[in-house]
This record gives sequence, C-alpha cells and structure tokens, in this order.
Amino acid sequence: MALLEVSGLGLAYGPIRAAEDISLQVGADEIVAIIGGNGAGKTSLLKGIAGLLTPTTGTVRFSGEDITRLAPHRRVGLGIALSPEGRQVFPDQSVADNLVLGAYARNFARGELEAEIEEKFALFPRLAERRNQPALTLSGGEQQMLAIARALMSRPRLLLLDEPSLGLAPIIVRDVFRIIETLRGRGISILIVEQMANLALKVSNRAYVIESGRITLDGKSADLLHDPRIRAAYLGVSHG
Ligand SMILES: Nc1ncnc2c1ncn2[C@@H]1O[C@H](COP(=O)(O)OP(=O)(O)OP(=O)(O)O)[C@@H](O)[C@H]1O
Ligand SMILES: [Mg+2]
Repeated sequence: MALLEVSGLGLAYGPIRAAEDISLQVGADEIVAIIGGNGAGKTSLLKGIAGLLTPTTGTVRFSGEDITRLAPHRRVGLGIALSPEGRQVFPDQSVADNLVLGAYARNFARGELEAEIEEKFALFPRLAERRNQPALTLSGGEQQMLAIARALMSRPRLLLLDEPSLGLAPIIVRDVFRIIETLRGRGISILIVEQMANLALKVSNRAYVIESGRITLDGKSADLLHDPRIRAAYLGVSHG
C-alpha cells in the first residue's frame, strides 16, 4: 500500500478547471517529483492533497485512509505538511516563532517542542544564527529553508514541497536541494513540485509530468532524464 494514493482527482476554482483525472502514488521513503510548466496545475494538486482545495472528483488516500474531505489541520495531524509556493513565512514573527507555528497541529509538550526546534536548527544552521530575527529580514534562500523547517515541525510522514527553487540564485538552489537530499532516509516521503526539471529528476526516485491539468507521462526519474520528450520540453535540449 502506497503512503499517498491519489485517484481520479479533479480540481477547480469555480468554473476554472485546474486539474482532471490525476492519479498518482507516493510510497514510503520515496521522493516523487511533479514536473510541469506555468499553470499546469501543480500547486492546485498539492492544495488538493493538503486539503486547501476541495476536489470535484476522485479521492485522496493517506496510509489507507480516505482523507478527500478532511480539513487541512487534521491532515497535518495525520502527517502531511506543505511547504507552500512563495514560502509564505510569517514576516513579522521571529524565525523561532515561525517554527513554533509549524507545530500548531501537534500537541507537543514544552520540552518536546524545544527539542523539535533545536533539531531543525541543527539541520539548518543558518536559521539557528538568525533565530530571533523577524522572518522578513531573511534572504530568499533562508526564507525557503525556514518554510521547509516550519513544515518539518509537524513531524510529517509526507512533505509537500512547492517550487523550492523559485526566485533563488543557482548556488542557493543547490543548498536547498542538498537539504532535500539529507531528508532522504529519515522516514519522510517527499512530493516535490518543480519547474527546474533537471534538479527535480536528479533528487527524486520517480516523477510525473503534468500538462494542462493532466498527467501525460510518468516513470523512473533516471529514465525521464534521458527521455527525448522531457529533454525537449523541460530540459532545454532539442531532439536529435
Ligand atoms: N485562486 C485561483 N482562482 C482561479 N483560478 C486559479 C486559481 N489558482 C490557480 N488557478 C488556475 O488554475 C490553473 C492551475 O494553476 P496552478 O497554480 O495549479 O498551476 P502551477 O502548475 O502551480 O503553475 P506555476 O508553475 O505558475 O506555479 C491555472 O489555469 C490557474 O490560472
Ligand atoms: Mg504553482
């Protein structure tokens, strides 16, 4: 049984269809990538999984349980955490307080909460040095790390990462992907949405391509890296 199982999912904003008939799975300890261009439906799909957008069709199952209509905070409680597109850290709150807010759906005892925060600071040393600064004073890369650290505060079994590279300089993107790599083997599955297809395919086990709200291709990431359709459309390499 897959940890996450999405079947026939349809998503819409009123009359505007964002995704149709999406089926995908994420297994335990797997990193799975979603690749697709602007407006393909990637963020909408993550919102559907996190409970921020109610599906028009289909089901979302987590650990065998049907969570299609479950409220977002209940999903956090079950072990699904979202690091949203554009990071959305709380700008006026300190780095440490942003982390505290990430744990809102867990009823940690005080000592447990402290330990959880220190564990995040060990993983993201740059955040530790800035723990008392308001989040708005962080660089883009640091804010991205804070968004990921905040999501990890709820001890997720599934981490949803929406465009972690967005707006970051290449050297910082590398740091962020190095962090994602270190999460592998820690008992966390990751579903990562990325426009930087090469990075997403290198860090993931499997990937799905989404175009105009539908999955058009899926497979092992190592295979997709060499697939001429992927190379032409997403890796800036022409055929032949
Ligand atoms: N709040 C909204 N209201 C109405 N339509 C929306 C809303 N959010 C997204 N859409 C539409 O849904 C479709 C999918 O958008 P979505 O944000 O999921 O794409 P995306 O793949 O994440 O794109 P990007 O790479 O630019 O982040 C688009 O056509 C978009 O215009
Ligand atoms: Mg998006």
